[in-house]
Amino acid sequence: NKRSIEDHFDYSPELEQNLREHGKDDLLAMVRDIGNINLHYIRQKEPKGLGHAILCAKAFVGNEPFAVLLGDDVVYNDEYPCLKQLMDVYNNTGASVLGCQTVPQEKVSSYGIVASEATDAERIYKVNDMVEKPAVEEAPSRLAVLGRYVITPEIFSILEHTEPGRGGEIQLTDALKVLAKEQAMYAYDFVGRRYDVGDKQGYLEATVEYALRRPDLKDKFLEYLKGIVE
Ligand code: G1P
Repeated sequence: NKRSIEDHFDYSPELEQNLREHGKDDLLAMVRDIGNINLHYIRQKEPKGLGHAILCAKAFVGNEPFAVLLGDDVVYNDEYPCLKQLMDVYNNTGASVLGCQTVPQEKVSSYGIVASEATDAERIYKVNDMVEKPAVEEAPSRLAVLGRYVITPEIFSILEHTEPGRGGEIQLTDALKVLAKEQAMYAYDFVGRRYDVGDKQGYLEATVEYALRRPDLKDKFLEYLKGIVE
């Protein structure tokens, strides 16, 4: 049902007509705003892994650095968005940048883990090696890649030759590991509250905390939460 994503960001004449007729101007403005961006879609025809998905976008991206945002990682930073933080590091270094945070030991096997060394710059680490979802005893660190990347276009020719890795999938981590040997790459310990909404607990935490940040929902919702825990 991938079409539903395209439809969500499209204009919806029937819905708009209905809202107009009922004088719901605020909702109408919201719906029109959602459709007011120019999106291009490329479909990955078979689920062959994250690396393969990114390779599908090669012709669209061309010879430019590009950002990757994985939808199941949500990062909250109201003032300095996570991707902007990464773009600033890219603009200062000209190198690929991986958005990372330290995760608890028992979680390292869920992520791409980075072996790195500190640099003179705060929060910026030089990437020496990477491993996709290592066993706890094999993890080189607890610094995990959390779904935000700025990557140089040289990754595409590497992805073209990347064999299926962990889980039988073409892994972005395996290609990044090769890229890190060819050119500088940095891990950036981004500032922000990160939620893994691919996990039930993470999904619930994101839902509750985002609701509590909304002035239109906060007071009533907090009252409700207090009511059910008493
Ligand atoms: C993917 C990547 C992994 C990364 C993670 C972040 O894994 O392969 O390196 O750490 O996203 O969420 P997935 O969660 O899709 O299995």
